[in-house]
Amino acid sequence: MEFHRNPDLDPAEREEPFEYSLRPQRLTEYIGQEKVKARLEIALKAALKRGEVLDHVLLFGPPGLGKTTLAHVLANEMGAPCKVIQAPALEKKGDLAAILTNLEENEFLFIDEIHRLPPAIEEMLYAAMEDRKLDILIGQGPSAQTLKVDLRPFTLVGATTRAGLISKPLHDRFGMVHRLEYYTRAELGIIATRSSHVLGVEMVPEGAEAIARRSRGTPRIVNRLLRRCRDYAEVKGQGVITTEIAEACLHLHEVDDLGLDGLDRAYLETLCVKFKGGPVGVRSLAAALGEVEGDALEDLVEPYLMQIGFLDRTPQGRRATEAAYDYLGVKPSSGPLFS
Ligand code: ADE
Repeated sequence: MEFHRNPDLDPAEREEPFEYSLRPQRLTEYIGQEKVKARLEIALKAALKRGEVLDHVLLFGPPGLGKTTLAHVLANEMGAPCKVIQAPALEKKGDLAAILTNLEENEFLFIDEIHRLPPAIEEMLYAAMEDRKLDILIGQGPSAQTLKVDLRPFTLVGATTRAGLISKPLHDRFGMVHRLEYYTRAELGIIATRSSHVLGVEMVPEGAEAIARRSRGTPRIVNRLLRRCRDYAEVKGQGVITTEIAEACLHLHEVDDLGLDGLDRAYLETLCVKFKGGPVGVRSLAAALGEVEGDALEDLVEPYLMQIGFLDRTPQGRRATEAAYDYLGVKPSSGPLFS
C-alpha cells in the first residue's frame, strides 16, 4: 500500500511559495486561536512599549495549524526578521553557534520540530535563551578552552507537535507556552474565503463551507483543497468554485464528509478489523499498514481521529471507539469491550 499524504514531513511541500502568500502577515489577519492571540497581543504590546525583545515562545499542536505562520506574524509585529530552521538540520554544535552569533538584534529564530534537537545542541540553547550567552569550546584535550560569547537580544520560537517530548529544562526556558487548537468550521470557512481572495478565484459561500467541512480542523488542508478546487473549476467549469464543483472535486480526491482520506480509513480498518479494536501499539499499526511510519501516524492521523472521538489512546495502546465502527459500517467482532 502506498500513501501520498505526508506534506508536513516533506520539506519540498512545506514552503510552497503560493502557500506563503496565503499566510496572514499581521495578528489581526490571523483567523482563529483567539485565546492564544489575546495572550500574544498583550505580550507584543508590552515588549514594544518597553523596547524589549519578545519573550521566547513555545508553540505546540498538530501539523498544519499555523505555528510557522504565527512565528512570522510575531516577527512582523515586532518589526523583526525571522530565520526558520528545522531542528533535525542542526547536526553539530557549530551549526547552532553559527546561526545564533549571526542573528541580528531583535531577530526571531524559529526552530521547527524542536523536540528533535540533538541533546548536546539542546543544552547549548539553555544558556543562549536564559543569559544570551554561548559557551564555545575551542581546541581539544587539556589545552581546550571555553570561550564565552555574548549574543544579541533575540526571540526563539520553538514549534513541536509533541509537547510531551520537550525536556523540562528546555520547556522552562520559554516565557510563553501556547497550544494551538483545531479550528472550528466557521473559522475554516473564513480562511477558505480569505485564501480564495488572495488566489483571485471566485467561490460561492457553500463552496467555502464544503471545503471547511472536510479540512479536519486544519488551515493547511483548507488551502490545499482550495487549490485543488480552483484547478477543477478552471478545467471542468467556468473558473468559479460552485457547490457542485467543490463537491465533485472533493469526491474525486476521495476526501469524505468528515475530511478523512485513504490513510485515515486504512488506519481505522486496520485497528477495527485486523486488531479487533485494540488495544494495540502504534508501531504494530504502522507495520500492518506498511509504507508509513509510527511518527507519521502519531502526527498526521491520530490527533484528528481522537478529536472526532474515533480513537482512544490508552496506556495499553490504541483503541477504536464505537463511533469508529459506526463510521466504517462494520460491527465489532469478538474484540474487547469499548472503553
Ligand atoms: N492561512 C492559514 N492559516 C491561517 C489563519 N489562521 N488565518 C488566516 N489565514 C490563514
